[in-house]
Amino acid sequence: MENSKNLIIVIFGASGDLTARKLIPAIFSLKTQKLLPEKYSVVGVGRTPFSNDDFRAKMSEAIISFSEEKVTDTNLISEFTGALYYHTMDNSDQSGYPGLRAFLEEIDNKYSIGGNYIFYMATPPSVYGIISVNLAKSGLTDQEKGFRRIIIEKPFGYDLESGKKLNKTLHEIISEEQIFRIDHYLGKETVQNLLVTRFANGIFEPLWNRNYIHRIEITSAESIGVEDRGGYYDSSGALRDMVQNHLLQIVGLTAMEPPSSLDPDAIRNEVLKVFQSLQPIKEEDVPAQVIRGQYTGSMVRGECLTGYRYEKGVAKDSRTETFVAIKFFINNWRWGGVPFYIRTGKRLPTRVTEVVIHFKQTPHHLFQRAVGKLTSNQLIIRIQPDEGMLVKLDIKEPGAGFNLKNVNMDFHYKDLANTRVPSAYERLLYDVMVGDSTLFSRDDEVETAWKFLGPIQKAWANNPEIKVYGYPAGTWGPINANELIEGDDLTWRYPCKNLADDGLYCEL
Ligand code: BG6
Repeated sequence: MENSKNLIIVIFGASGDLTARKLIPAIFSLKTQKLLPEKYSVVGVGRTPFSNDDFRAKMSEAIISFSEEKVTDTNLISEFTGALYYHTMDNSDQSGYPGLRAFLEEIDNKYSIGGNYIFYMATPPSVYGIISVNLAKSGLTDQEKGFRRIIIEKPFGYDLESGKKLNKTLHEIISEEQIFRIDHYLGKETVQNLLVTRFANGIFEPLWNRNYIHRIEITSAESIGVEDRGGYYDSSGALRDMVQNHLLQIVGLTAMEPPSSLDPDAIRNEVLKVFQSLQPIKEEDVPAQVIRGQYTGSMVRGECLTGYRYEKGVAKDSRTETFVAIKFFINNWRWGGVPFYIRTGKRLPTRVTEVVIHFKQTPHHLFQRAVGKLTSNQLIIRIQPDEGMLVKLDIKEPGAGFNLKNVNMDFHYKDLANTRVPSAYERLLYDVMVGDSTLFSRDDEVETAWKFLGPIQKAWANNPEIKVYGYPAGTWGPINANELIEGDDLTWRYPCKNLADDGLYCEL
């Protein structure tokens, strides 16, 4: 493992949830793995007034509550939080930045850091541009003494135009190499495993195309609702929140051509080519190719679940989608004619993200199945939970005749001895420290993804008659989403918590 140079991580929005739940526990975890540089400091910046000690106490609690390692060594936590500082200021006000600069320089001198700073925007997206410009105006983005990198959380804009505007603002002050757009799905081990599955195993690649694959299905389901993020979510919806970034990145890695190397741009160029080959969905085809839904109140396992419109921060007449399913094609030699089905939603029966590759059936059906219909082979790459892979295939049922039985061959990450799957944020923060941008979205990828979604956004905005179907919380979304999948008796896979199980009714 390469060691990062000494550095300061500056977190804007440090009093927020992301800092406490994800960022600080991830940085702490890097410390326990000895992946932090010899000299480092973390500086929280925010409007809520805290002293250094207040901030340290709050972050100690955060580590105890949210760190995956369940550390009990309080000395280690104190040693870590001793390098945490807090600076109170309004990040949108330019006049506070000389003070921030002086504060950082003081810490830089104290720890002999050498001028390497990472700025993390854990703030509302509306201020990403403002903070970046303010940093630049106060000289904090100049790389004369050390590196200066900016990490931006999604959403990167809310449509093509605003995405381009944000990129333009950033490019006027810093170079693309200094920008790290976080899509935390790319930090997940199992998303990266898509590359390894495809390009380290000779058996899959020859089959990975329109000659052998019938359709591809990608699901990212959540059982939680919008929780306390109703205010943000109501102006976003599933399309912007999950599809533009996480789901399309998974599509990119599933469908891309083999990159020539593991160079960050070699991989991102191939993902970009997939995005550029997405067959545009015409506005008039949106009702047939895109199904949106919104969860309504229901009783699930004795618990009364609130309908979306009654969640805090959500408009009572909201038409924001909490579920979306899309059918689309990729226009290139590998995928021409193969339908891709993707869906995501909140308040679905379980939390699961997976890619299902449905292979074509055999051209001639020699055998009769004992019960039910003909099946085809499936390869399921499970991103979460019960991370792993599963192949479904037919075998001969023991006994007279040739009766078939569909069985599973599965691998579960949890079966690897002594292996801990690091959190996405750990991996991504480490990558920023060492300057590796492979797992971050590039400007052109972001814009091309928005371009693909543009007609859907327009159709929904311009045609109120396009339905937002209600679906009871705890179900698999509107039944109309089934109609997207064409073909006799074909349906989505209804995955369960355990990789090997599926079906409409199963153990949760
Ligand atoms: C975030 C979305 O990017 O991803 C959330 O804003 C969503 O709405 C979350 O809940 C899902 O992430 P994960 O890692 O729990 O699948």
